[in-house]
Amino acid sequence: MFPMPLPRPRAFSGIQPTADSLHLGNYLGALKQWVELQEDYDCVYSVVDLHALTVGPSPAELRQRVRATAAQFLAAGVDPARSVLFIQSEVSEHAQLTWLLNCLTGFGEAGRMTQFKDKSSRLGEKAVTVGLFDYPVLMAADILLYDAQVVPVGEDQRQHLELSRTLAARLNSRFGPGTAVVPEPVIVKATAKIFDLQDPGAKMSKTGHPSGIIELLDDPKTIAKRIKTAVTDSGSEITWDPSVKPGVANLLTIYSALTDQPVEAIVQRYQGKLYGHLKVDLAEVVVESLRPFRERTALYLDDPGQLDQILDQGAERARGIAATVYGRIAGCFGLGRAGQ
Ligand code: AMP
Ligand code: TRP
Repeated sequence: MFPMPLPRPRAFSGIQPTADSLHLGNYLGALKQWVELQEDYDCVYSVVDLHALTVGPSPAELRQRVRATAAQFLAAGVDPARSVLFIQSEVSEHAQLTWLLNCLTGFGEAGRMTQFKDKSSRLGEKAVTVGLFDYPVLMAADILLYDAQVVPVGEDQRQHLELSRTLAARLNSRFGPGTAVVPEPVIVKATAKIFDLQDPGAKMSKTGHPSGIIELLDDPKTIAKRIKTAVTDSGSEITWDPSVKPGVANLLTIYSALTDQPVEAIVQRYQGKLYGHLKVDLAEVVVESLRPFRERTALYLDDPGQLDQILDQGAERARGIAATVYGRIAGCFGLGRAGQ
């Protein structure tokens, strides 16, 4: 007799469908870890379309981006045979658990989220919605609904993750241990924050400098141009010094992460060479790393039937887990006639 395999710990993460293409920060900061975690974790990954509503996309744009984002998860290596891949709004318990958590979240506590403060000050008071304010609570609901032990994200999500942990701990102290699993962030230090190529003091972001970002679906010419015109620092020597040479450090980080070579080995190889040499080679590395990704994404998008089947199956598996966990937590609040 074979021993029963032990259940694997659960990982959960999500990315918003707010652009036609993900960018290199999303890939190196999050998606790459998602793929690797599949070896040891029971993974649940979501296209978080409810979160994307906070930026007010048109319905056609949102529909298109949901599909494009799911196709990119698959192209990056999310394996639907091993992991659950689903669209957040297709599992209604996300919105339901958010309400329960809303009733446990302090108004001031939510108001302290730095992403909310940044986004709302950019938008101005009139344009800020309750949805934007509630965004981190919906994210906590996403995570707690799957009893996730780990959550792979980039550095910018650390504070949101901390709120998820606080809310899980609050459920446990109010209703007893075992009500919720307290999740741990998985933030890989080397690639936790990829910087804007035009402004190496800011994170690479969809809302940043248009030529400061590399989109995963960019054509090779655009990619090469973006890297060749990346802002580098004064001096000409290639050294690893993020505080003095943040632009060069960012390029070295990207090089290292895409080739799985230590930064020191790359610096060693470029001794006596100029920034231009590094840029030419890095452009080649990025283009060649992304070429198969772009091709695979196109294959998934060209076969809507297959993509729908994967997403249908994912939603069904996600609902199975979410319904059980939601029932457990809602019962603790006194909802449901059958509880005690
Ligand atoms: P979003 O596009 O905001 O839904 O982000 C999706 C994932 O990408 C999250 O885990 C972020 O933390 C991560 N991420 C976004 N931008 C960067 C960046 N510049 N560097 C590293 N990770 C990032
Ligand atoms: N807020 C995350 C971001 O902007 C996306 C997200 C939503 C998420 N729900 C999540 C990430 C749950 C991890 C786990 O990047």
